[in-house]
Amino acid sequence: MSGIKKSITELVGHTPLLELTNYEKQNNLEAEIVVKLEFYNPNQSVKDRIALAMIEDAEKKGLLKPGFTIVETTSGNTGIGLAAIAAAKGYKFKVYIQDQVSEERFKVIKAFGAETIKLTEEPVLAKVLQETNGDFVAAIKELEEKVLSKEKDIFFVNQVANPANPEVHKNTTGPEIWEDTNGKVDFLVSAVGTGGTVSGTGAFLKSKNPNVKIVAIQPGPNSLPSEANPKPEEITGVHPFFGIPLERIPATMDLGIYDEAFEVETEQAYEAARAVAKSDGILIGTSSGAAIHIATLLAKRPENKGKRIVAVLPDTGLRYLSTKLFEI
Ligand SMILES: Cc1ncc(COP(=O)(O)O)c(C=O)c1O
Repeated sequence: MSGIKKSITELVGHTPLLELTNYEKQNNLEAEIVVKLEFYNPNQSVKDRIALAMIEDAEKKGLLKPGFTIVETTSGNTGIGLAAIAAAKGYKFKVYIQDQVSEERFKVIKAFGAETIKLTEEPVLAKVLQETNGDFVAAIKELEEKVLSKEKDIFFVNQVANPANPEVHKNTTGPEIWEDTNGKVDFLVSAVGTGGTVSGTGAFLKSKNPNVKIVAIQPGPNSLPSEANPKPEEITGVHPFFGIPLERIPATMDLGIYDEAFEVETEQAYEAARAVAKSDGILIGTSSGAAIHIATLLAKRPENKGKRIVAVLPDTGLRYLSTKLFEI
């Protein structure tokens, strides 16, 4: 069989696991920290998995046909993954983006030929976001009901409610971790945005061994906008799932999946990301730093001596060059 691939769709997933051997030694850790490097996906993030899965699921269900436009509401990694896979499969892609999106993300999405619309340019979205103090779930619902329902020949992806999101992690991310560790995994650590990664991967690992502990991460209070600090440095793509109203939690987050949950502040995530760049030569984003921060905390617990902690690292540090992450 030829080793030549015919489409980027064939390059999604099968990312490597790496033990942070130098970091473990430098921190005198007696548990193993093993990281799943999702920047090995063709567009450098874990979201390539769900972008491909949600598009192919819609094709199978007849919701997406040749000539249709794919629509999504994020300029984050999912937007980038969808833009690239839409290009490779010959679909148009329209994305609603936050006004403050970083220049590198905006340029990447544009490079794939996507149409971009700023949230404040869409009056329905702008109004809901203002009224609800930035409730994105409510804004998306309104956009779907009042704007997209009137458009023809579109497929609205909606990663926060699309079951193909957690499902692909159950079918790929989980099995890859299980196989590459020969079933020796004690903890899964994952930051939560839509909850797809932790819910799907966690469900698969628990189905293989109910004793695997699933650990979920949300941003700490100082890393979320507040009246005192309306524009903090945030952990991109990571959102609260405890201590907030249930209706603001994406349907893709299974609240019953995790054994323990932690809050991480952006500065703690930065420190961990900077440390592993120097110790083991991997350049990762803020949510990956948050996962390593918590993996380290778990590794320091005496009862976890000899245990294996697998942390999912969602994306590359190259996507954060305009933030303070590597301003050192
Ligand atoms: C950089 C980054 N990290 C973590 C996450 C969280 O992943 P999930 O949506 O699967 O919970 C996201 C999601 O947007 C992300 O973009």
